[in-house]
Amino acid sequence: MTDAIIQTENLFKTYGSGAAETHALRGATLAIPRGAFCAIIGPSGHGKSTLMHLIGGLDRPTSGSVRIDGAEIGGLSSSRLARLRAEKIGFVFQFFNLLGNLTAEENVAAAMMFAGVPDKAQKERARQLLELVGLGHKLDSRPKELSGGQQQRVAIARALANDPDILLMDEPTGNLDSEAEAEVLAAIRDLHRQGKTVIIVTHNPEIARQAELVIEIRDGRVARAGHAASALERIAA
Ligand SMILES: Nc1ncnc2c1ncn2[C@@H]1O[C@H](COP(=O)(O)OP(=O)(O)O)[C@@H](O)[C@H]1O
Ligand SMILES: [Mg+2]
Repeated sequence: MTDAIIQTENLFKTYGSGAAETHALRGATLAIPRGAFCAIIGPSGHGKSTLMHLIGGLDRPTSGSVRIDGAEIGGLSSSRLARLRAEKIGFVFQFFNLLGNLTAEENVAAAMMFAGVPDKAQKERARQLLELVGLGHKLDSRPKELSGGQQQRVAIARALANDPDILLMDEPTGNLDSEAEAEVLAAIRDLHRQGKTVIIVTHNPEIARQAELVIEIRDGRVARAGHAASALERIAA
């Protein structure tokens, strides 16, 4: 695939050593096209989060390679990798990880501090991003004053702070009720429409149905990759 924004080749990740050794990934090879809406599915404990960490450069593989935009990230120094991550990738996790004593606006602005954006521009962009996820009226609210769906939308606005091409989301609706989930999914779909590559780990068949590419992870490998319909048939079977 020529225009893959992310490619992994024979990715292995082993945690611990000796008796405590866990083989979280055992040769995962995949390619995700630029601009795709990709769902990662599979049973709990089979390596999905590990894969997301490696794809996002948050951790390094035991062996194998990860390419982002065609560039192998294994050879990068920690600081180069951190910069690439900040420029190209936004992360959203199951637990929103917002800072409790900061407002929504401050939480989003904080993500721009390291990119050297001036104070005033940080606030301006934070407001725009919060409007984009439908929270223009909650700029001054602290996380505890927001619903779960709203908190997760703040987390999405924060992930967009440095205008990344790629959004990596690890069960972003796993902690939400169905109404909040619909709210967050609408925001995610909008971002995909605007051209972001969205990679989302999910247990929700409805989300997988909407994805263009479904990658099923089993035992640390790609058990199947293809269109939603075929993957879902397999789950149902
Ligand atoms: N930091 C870690 N240290 C040790 N073992 C880990 C760590 N992270 C994950 N694991 C183990 O690796 C395996 C895969 O975990 P994970 O990637 O979180 O799976 P999933 O996201 O599919 O539930 C599990 O057996 C898990 O216990
Ligand atoms: Mg996980």
